[in-house]
Amino acid sequence: MSIRLELVNWPEKSPLQRFTPEKWSRQQPTYRDADPGLIAAALRWSQQRPSGNWYVVAASDAIGRGRPYGAKVAGREIVLWRDEAGTLHAGPGACPHLGAPLATAQVENNALICRWHGMRVGPEDNASRWCPYPSHDDGVLAWVRVDSAGAETPTDAPILGERPADTTVHAVTRLIGVCEPRDIIANRLDPWHGSWFHPYSFARLEVTRTPPKADITEENHRFELDVTFRVTRSLGVPVRAEFSCPDPRTIVMRIVEGEGAGSVVETHATPLGPGPDGRARTAVVETTIATSARPGFRHARRALPLVRPMMNRAATRLWRDDLAYAERRYLLRTHQS
Ligand code: FES
Ligand SMILES: [Fe+2]
Repeated sequence: MSIRLELVNWPEKSPLQRFTPEKWSRQQPTYRDADPGLIAAALRWSQQRPSGNWYVVAASDAIGRGRPYGAKVAGREIVLWRDEAGTLHAGPGACPHLGAPLATAQVENNALICRWHGMRVGPEDNASRWCPYPSHDDGVLAWVRVDSAGAETPTDAPILGERPADTTVHAVTRLIGVCEPRDIIANRLDPWHGSWFHPYSFARLEVTRTPPKADITEENHRFELDVTFRVTRSLGVPVRAEFSCPDPRTIVMRIVEGEGAGSVVETHATPLGPGPDGRARTAVVETTIATSARPGFRHARRALPLVRPMMNRAATRLWRDDLAYAERRYLLRTHQS
């Protein structure tokens, strides 16, 4: 029976469905379908998408009032902070006087005061000494636009994929890998590894639609799959999900049918620049934004402090494995082994 048919028979109250667990090695192998040429074509297409030079830095709520946040984007040191009204600002992370880290500066009104000699820099600066970067807070994530790194046509705001109308129930995980953003995206453009590589999270995975190998377009670029999110060995939540790439460094999994339809997992890959060993470092910022038509879902909002660490834990486990996949891919294609 297909998962689609089973959805129709779901009891109203329980999203969980019992299934007969298969021995890991007895699953249908997926390597025949996971065509390296198709994954490469989908990746090439994703890498040609415009980004407007926007980069995700961190969870929006990681940048609080009163304390600057230091980060790196494409080898550039940057600083983000909020003014008293909560508006996000960003700029180069080194003080234009003698290079002190502005991540340690003091915030006053909407400006930063350098700890070393008191120079004041802020959003009104546009002199050649220190020029602020455009920043964007989408309510879940903080973004910065670095035109010198992206070198594309800048846009006023980041290019976002579809999200639930209410983004209150969300969690953000941030990890750093030894790879480039494209390795993170390539991992996600291989949906066939799901129930083999992450058997603790996925079962009964079937890819139901792929992009074509040639002439990929906005309309046909999505992958679609049926999968059961595993809760216990033999209980899970079956859904239909799709993967799409709104920009070259983002891949979005959206539940299109089943429990939590409309919920998304956005995976953003931000290049940090080379690490001390000369190899590329990439920050993976992944956010799960949950929604549900179920009346009980409003309780999830009240239980947010409890739900968030649980959502983070699940995502972190998956990402440790997916990061190993992406790092391995980077190693192989850069011949560093
Ligand atoms: S280094 Fe910042 S004011 Fe001197
Ligand atoms: Fe994965």
